[in-house]
Amino acid sequence: MPAFTATAPGKIILFGEHAVVYGRPAIAAPVGQVRARVNVIPEPMRPDNQVHIVAPAVGVDEQMTDLHPEAPLRRAVELVQAALGAKRYPAVTLRISSTIPVASGLGSGAAVSVALIRALSAFWGMPLPVEQVSALAYEVEKLHHGTPSGIDNTVIAYETPVVFRRGRTIERLQLPGPLTVVIGNTGITSPTALAVGDLRKAWQAGPERYEALFDAVSQIVQAARTALENGDIPALGPLMDENHARLVDMGVSCTELDCLVDVARQAGAWGAKLSGGGRGGNMIALVGASDGEAVAQALLSKGATAVIVTTIR
Ligand code: PMV
Repeated sequence: MPAFTATAPGKIILFGEHAVVYGRPAIAAPVGQVRARVNVIPEPMRPDNQVHIVAPAVGVDEQMTDLHPEAPLRRAVELVQAALGAKRYPAVTLRISSTIPVASGLGSGAAVSVALIRALSAFWGMPLPVEQVSALAYEVEKLHHGTPSGIDNTVIAYETPVVFRRGRTIERLQLPGPLTVVIGNTGITSPTALAVGDLRKAWQAGPERYEALFDAVSQIVQAARTALENGDIPALGPLMDENHARLVDMGVSCTELDCLVDVARQAGAWGAKLSGGGRGGNMIALVGASDGEAVAQALLSKGATAVIVTTIR
């Protein structure tokens, strides 16, 4: 059996993070320049069913069964085994690597899960269909934070821009033309669970205020969708600015994100916002096709630790 490799992209949320956890729609897109990669290497000399996992970035080099039962990598392997339903599997080593920054709002955890589920199921002779890959990755996402909306696993597994709403079938989004987006990293890692958990507490203490904020975000998402349908890409800029303001109101931004968002606007971006869980991680800026480099340089000169200029199609 030859070795087998699968990859999965990072992602950005263009509109609607956090409100999406509370049933509102959101728009997300894959980012192909950064990817998680899982290489399945056959180990014919080892006993059946042994799965060795090597993931240097998170310091893992051990048998899958030695990992904590709630470890996402272990859960992902066990979910594949359960889905395939066989009793015996040829032994393998899984080599996991990723160029997606961890805990930074770009979906690194979901991308590793998707790549692992794809690679392992294909290697063991039964490549799972995309909806099942996404569903299994969603189960793993629950270990990262208790109430994931499912947007990360969906956009990453389908690898297409989507309008996502919890519990609804996915809608692939047809873009009127390419969108140029600059992604700027604050360099601050912040687990999604933290921002999601704090927001939940605040919502429980004062649901009216937060429901109103989620409704405001929902309207922004609808307006963005209409702008895309009308082919009016620059109109997305002010909508991004508004979305960022509502995320600030929710308490999920931070000084560094606000600073990079301002820098991007001053450097000529049409609009900018944080993307993902917030409290650190990455922001995004929508720019004209020829302005990507200038905005990226401005972000780097004002404290961004890394930038990606990406084209969403
Ligand atoms: O995992 P992140 O940081 O990319 O954020 C995902 C988006 C949230 O809306 C904050 C959480 C969710 O489950 O949708």
